[in-house]
Amino acid sequence: MKKILILFGGSSSEHNISCKSAKSVIENIDQNKFDYKMVGIDFNHNWYQFCDDLSYLENGKWKDANILKIDNIISYLKEFDVVFPVMHGIYGEDGTLQGLLEYFHIPFVGCGTLASAIGMDKAISKQFFESLQIPQVPYIVIDHATKVQTILNHITFPVIVKPSNGGSSIGINKASNKKELVKAIQEAKKYDSKIIVEQFIVCRELECAVLEKDKNIICSRPGEIKSANEFYDYEAKYVNQNSYTAIPDDLDNSTISAIQKYAKKIFLNLGCKGLSRIDFFYEEKTKHIYINEINTLPGFTTISMYPKLIEHEHISYSELITILIENALKKS
Ligand SMILES: Nc1ncnc2c1ncn2[C@@H]1O[C@H](COP(=O)(O)OP(=O)(O)OP(=O)(O)O)[C@@H](O)[C@H]1O
Ligand SMILES: [Mg+2]
Repeated sequence: MKKILILFGGSSSEHNISCKSAKSVIENIDQNKFDYKMVGIDFNHNWYQFCDDLSYLENGKWKDANILKIDNIISYLKEFDVVFPVMHGIYGEDGTLQGLLEYFHIPFVGCGTLASAIGMDKAISKQFFESLQIPQVPYIVIDHATKVQTILNHITFPVIVKPSNGGSSIGINKASNKKELVKAIQEAKKYDSKIIVEQFIVCRELECAVLEKDKNIICSRPGEIKSANEFYDYEAKYVNQNSYTAIPDDLDNSTISAIQKYAKKIFLNLGCKGLSRIDFFYEEKTKHIYINEINTLPGFTTISMYPKLIEHEHISYSELITILIENALKKS
């Protein structure tokens, strides 16, 4: 039986969602095929073997559980056939962990160092999308020295301001005038020195799940975010119960296939492996599609968008885990 290591937690703002994703993976992994262990990573980058009730992963209090600190991480990692980092955000999804695993020739689920790093940095991703000629809303990348007037020479209000490296909509704000823009930039600066200011558009948010299976690239039918707020901010994402996701049945075939085509192009050109969720904006009145971002380790609970979209392609959550692990074994 192949030995699998499930990594969860990490030091990003998405620590808790990672714990929930890992719980879902453990509850659904095919135990006839895979022998697994779990390791939690805390906010100080310490690694602990976790061998307790999975309910500790639901409430984010896994450090109160029965855990064992791992002192020699590298030799511990080498015991496994595949590592599955069920982790999101910085130090999980940004290529750093992937680099560590690649350096020691340890097979792992998902994209490699380069694709993960590019995908995590929104400013660099944008340059990459531009090189593929995939439409994007007007934007400018700024730093502390950029003058407000320079921004306004590029874009008109309303705008949305984001830290280049981030996630979970943290540090993201809409601005409709100069005063709000200055405030939004100050807020984004708390999270990154590189900031993106882009045109705020009224749009539908459509997401495409991409999965590598038997050398084919499956691009799912797009799913849609139905945000309870004006945009999918932190509150709408994690607090407000009125936000939901759906797989819409009112999209033109041409819109669906354009999204799938863009998603496949991005996945292949970025050299992605295993999986990615690629997010788009669809401006209904003009029928324009814009790329927003790529998530190389998307949310992975049973009710997350990625597994739901893959399920719609007739691949169960449990099969999905098997496919991802087998992909990792093949690429080793
Ligand atoms: N140009 C835009 N126009 C309108 N709404 C936008 C625009 N850019 C972002 N948004 C809204 O803000 C939300 C968060 O933005 P974005 O997806 O870029 O960052 P993020 O979700 O924090 O990143 P990650 O998905 O890596 O966690 C989007 O889901 C969308 O609702
Ligand atoms: Mg997003």
